[in-house]
Amino acid sequence: MPVMRLDKLIAGAGLCTRSEAKKVIRAGRVTVEGKAVTDPAAHCDSDSDVRLDGERASWQEYLYLMMNKPAGYLSVTEDPRAPTVLALLPPELRRRNLSPAGRLDKDSEGLLLLTSDGDFCHRVISPKSGIEKEYYIEVDRPFPEGAETLFSAGAVLEDGEACLPARLVPAPDRMSARVFLREGKYHQVKRMSIAAGTKVKYLKRLSVGGVELDPGLAPGQFRALTEEERRRICEESDNLHK
Ligand code: URA
Repeated sequence: MPVMRLDKLIAGAGLCTRSEAKKVIRAGRVTVEGKAVTDPAAHCDSDSDVRLDGERASWQEYLYLMMNKPAGYLSVTEDPRAPTVLALLPPELRRRNLSPAGRLDKDSEGLLLLTSDGDFCHRVISPKSGIEKEYYIEVDRPFPEGAETLFSAGAVLEDGEACLPARLVPAPDRMSARVFLREGKYHQVKRMSIAAGTKVKYLKRLSVGGVELDPGLAPGQFRALTEEERRRICEESDNLHK
């Protein structure tokens, strides 16, 4: 039961960076065992009941984060050629064995889950998990008539690989669309769009398993998943396997 500074404990729990932790503590948003504490240097036991805005903020074995991934970063833990999404995390979180639960291409943006919990990661990325992911895309020429049917029938990609049925909901001008998938093949949305006769210029993931990207997160920012969000993703994968 190590004793540690309150700002360090909150940052280590993955809820925010150390400097943000200082701010939220000073603003009176943190309680320890039910009492507000406004001194970031206050010390407490690492297993105390610490809450930020009512959400449990004590040190946890596993971390679950949502990030608004910016373009230009790889969703892997290490790569010598380009910065990875881990470079966007503060040092205290980089040491916590986090890996992306699912991939977004280097030029793609939006909701990326990061976790140190291998079971949770497996639930999200396993080809069998069937968790729904929603994307917003912009394309270089309008989706041809019939593209919706091609997506719903399960598009066949250029290498002959067949996709599971998916949903394409184009905007009225058909230059952008929402795409809903239950699998995660390599470059899948881009390749399905090519099979439909157009090319993706911009791609942003909006939700995973019914959990939406927090609109308050600017590109590059992250926050901890709430307990409710984590449970929703687990429940969706459980329901799909009943
Ligand atoms: N499909 C793609 O083509 N790219 C992504 O980044 C995610 C899904």
